[in-house]
Amino acid sequence: MNRRNFLRNSALAVTLGVSAKSLSAEKALEEINSTANKIASRKSVFNMCGYAAQKTDTLRVGLVGIGTRGTGLLKLLLKIGGVEIAGVCDVRKEAVGAAQELILYAGRKRAEEFFGGKLSWEKLCASGDIDLIINATPWKWHAPICIAAMESGKHAAVEVPAAITLKECLDLVDTSERTKRHCVMLENCCYDFFEAATIQMAQDGLFGDLVSAEGAYIHEIVASYVKRSDRYDGALWRWEEQLAANGNLYPTHGLGPIAWAFGINRGDNFDLMTSMSSDDFSIKAYFDANHAKCPDLKAPYKVPCGNMNVSLIRTKLGRLITLFHDISSPRPYDRKHIISGTKGFAQKYPLPGRLAFSDKFLPQEQSDKFIEEHAPELLRKIGKAAKAAGGHGGMDYIMLWRLADCLRNGLPLDSEVYDAAAWSSLYPLSIASVAGGSNAVAIPDFSGGNWKLNKPVDLGLRGGGSTQAL
Ligand SMILES: NC(=O)c1ccc[n+]([C@@H]2O[C@H](COP(=O)([O-])OP(=O)(O)OC[C@H]3O[C@@H](n4cnc5c(N)ncnc54)[C@H](O)[C@@H]3O)[C@@H](O)[C@H]2O)c1
Repeated sequence: MNRRNFLRNSALAVTLGVSAKSLSAEKALEEINSTANKIASRKSVFNMCGYAAQKTDTLRVGLVGIGTRGTGLLKLLLKIGGVEIAGVCDVRKEAVGAAQELILYAGRKRAEEFFGGKLSWEKLCASGDIDLIINATPWKWHAPICIAAMESGKHAAVEVPAAITLKECLDLVDTSERTKRHCVMLENCCYDFFEAATIQMAQDGLFGDLVSAEGAYIHEIVASYVKRSDRYDGALWRWEEQLAANGNLYPTHGLGPIAWAFGINRGDNFDLMTSMSSDDFSIKAYFDANHAKCPDLKAPYKVPCGNMNVSLIRTKLGRLITLFHDISSPRPYDRKHIISGTKGFAQKYPLPGRLAFSDKFLPQEQSDKFIEEHAPELLRKIGKAAKAAGGHGGMDYIMLWRLADCLRNGLPLDSEVYDAAAWSSLYPLSIASVAGGSNAVAIPDFSGGNWKLNKPVDLGLRGGGSTQAL
């Protein structure tokens, strides 16, 4: 695509509804009646699941959104052989400058830089010398930037959640299929050591028929976000979302590994969801007390989001998934990761992760041994280097190394746009369910029916493994 067509298409994408706004309950409910039906009746024009793009020895990455997460990702990318940071982009010049320093410190050449306006990523996407755009911006920019990246011939890898409206989820799927560009969500928890081993064990039948699972994002982050408020204008973006809607606004960390174990989009699929929220017992009070520290959050807040949201999902094969979301209560970090089948059971939190094949947990040593023995080939290859490199204990490195290795070797990716869309769709759908009195809502099929044919995720090396850990 030439530059003029790209600019026209990206401008069109922005005017067509990828509008970079928070999602309200009214909009979420309206989408159930409009967009959900469109998704349910859509025909897939090309199945990205199993698709392998042309290999590329050097993977040229453009990174957009170089805040807390983007900086962490950059440090890890600089430890992967065959990966070049070709472009860096942020609204803030100082963020781009800090990224260049890290790049130079690692002995690499300066990247092309883009900063200034909220749409400086358009120029990054239009740049000719980039294969993959990695997007670690605030949520409302995820879909617009990924769509622009794919429209200009680049693959897109995006932080979680990939999108915050059903329309954005649909646009991501349509664009990926039409352009044959990958759009992968960077769900790092799928690559954590316990989770990956239990995905392998589930696929090997060790838990029997899978019946139910529980996942969570329970992480007390209110205070840490308020502390960020003096860092830069707009640093409180997450609280703007949190104060705009009531539901599960961060569903994918708990869900991703369960979805891979269950084969969502690959043999099974989501069917229905019902979602319920508690009242807010502390968030409004917290922001009222700390308002002076975060003046860019407009008071009085609507604060519709309750402290705890619980969502119940039924799959097409009749299994149940329960998801918990609480980012404000003072309690230990918890993603649960419970998988229960007719023959066995796994539970990661509270740590350490444990297994059971009867009504009693195995002794810890035996559980640990099982987990080690069932580590997929991918983890056996790169797990040690990942632990040394870091990034949430190594899982971030495994995820990035794997993405780079697949793209460099021209292999299909572990996760495609269907996962990005389906997992992220629980964000708007949970808001709609809560707003409708916890009514059950249908979770539309983003794969166009291909979920019945797609093969389960394969955490083997599949002919790759040639990428160096630096
Ligand atoms: N997977 C994980 O474990 C994990 C952990 C933390 C954050 N995240 C995700 O990473 C993303 C970023 O979170 P964060 O905590 O780093 O936020 P942050 O506020 O620290 O960083 C966001 C960055 O994006 C920049 N930005 C904002 N609007 C932009 C635009 N229009 N164009 C270019 N740059 C723009 C900001 O200047 C900032 O540097 C979010 O999607 C979040 O959910 C994921």
